[in-house]
Amino acid sequence: MTFNLRRAVTADMAEIMRLERAGFAPAIQETEQTFAERLAAAPEGCWVLAGEAGRLYGYLCAEFWPLEPGFNPNRFARDHAAGETHSLDGEEIYISSMVVDPVTRGTGWGRRLFSVALAEMFARHLRLRSAILIVNPEWTAARRIYSAEGFAEIGEIEGYFAAGDGRQLSAIVMRRPQT
Ligand SMILES: CC(C)(COP(=O)(O)OP(=O)(O)OC[C@H]1O[C@@H](n2cnc3c(N)ncnc32)[C@H](O)[C@@H]1OP(=O)(O)O)[C@@H](O)C(=O)NCCC(=O)NCCS
Repeated sequence: MTFNLRRAVTADMAEIMRLERAGFAPAIQETEQTFAERLAAAPEGCWVLAGEAGRLYGYLCAEFWPLEPGFNPNRFARDHAAGETHSLDGEEIYISSMVVDPVTRGTGWGRRLFSVALAEMFARHLRLRSAILIVNPEWTAARRIYSAEGFAEIGEIEGYFAAGDGRQLSAIVMRRPQT
């Protein structure tokens, strides 16, 4: 199957929320309000893999941040309002979330979504020169994609993820300068 990578629109919301629920445990799913804020305040960072008849097979959300040495752990708060953090003048892409539909996983679309959406953002916004993200140490597929795409670990945020079994896991912070 092949999908069309395009910018997300408001009409995609129900499908984005279906993917969100399929992608993450309830304790760490983000709210529809958070996604609506992203679409309104940071539309240039919202991308989807579209199939036929409005069905989506993946989404990726990002914001543009000022590039700073190291990182500020407070910036990565779940469900933060993109309107308060996204800046079109930013030099660094923060990839806030990505999900591929479970029916499509393991066929290369996750890596394609990630690499092409980032390439599109770098090509359209010439001030961008770096990308940053956080990942749960147990999300093997995501970690494979980020390493393969040249991201390196630069630190951790302790206790960021509730594992669902009472454990708290650190978030691994990864960055890739754009060459
Ligand atoms: C992360 C995610 C988007 C990847 O999508 P995908 O379509 O499965 O990714 P790909 O098919 O491109 O596979 C990427 C890599 O992960 C590997 N992989 C895929 N599923 C895997 C699994 N269940 N266990 C281990 N490795 C896996 C693939 O083999 C591939 O590695 P390789 O290139 O070294 O062979 C998808 O798994 C997902 O939506 N997960 C839930 C949400 C999530 O973790 N989001 C990312 C953090 S925000």
